[in-house]
Amino acid sequence: MQHLLPLTLIFLSANVLAGPFDKGDAKQGKTTHQKLCADCHVAKFGGDGSKIYTRAERRVKNASALAQQITACNAMLGTNLFPEDELHLAAYLNGQFYKFK
Ligand code: HEC
Repeated sequence: MQHLLPLTLIFLSANVLAGPFDKGDAKQGKTTHQKLCADCHVAKFGGDGSKIYTRAERRVKNASALAQQITACNAMLGTNLFPEDELHLAAYLNGQFYKFK
């Protein structure tokens, strides 16, 4: 078993270096966000709506919570986004606001 340890370490550090949503396309996420998400956040929070993501008491505290929130919003709104679209949204929101590693 011992010989597995170095491999495990390499695997773990590669995971740490890669961002959680690297496979998502932030540009596409931004477009979807402008189309489906921004208006309502602006109506509630003013400005460009981004305060919803940057306020001190924001709810999303880690990458998996972000993914869950996006899935929940999608289901609630009935927007029928594909999992890829959710990943793009996550890549955009994380790159722009949350910066989870
Ligand atoms: C109908 C209005 C509305 C729409 C449309 C909407 N949201 Fe939201 N969203 C909200 C409100 C209100 C909150 C704040 C909830 C709270 O503070 O409890 C929120 C919170 C969030 C949060 C958590 C912010 C935090 O506190 O960290 C994320 C992430 C989010 N929305 C993503 C999205 C995405 C992605 C879409 C588009 C697919 C979307 N929302 C569409 C109303 C909306």
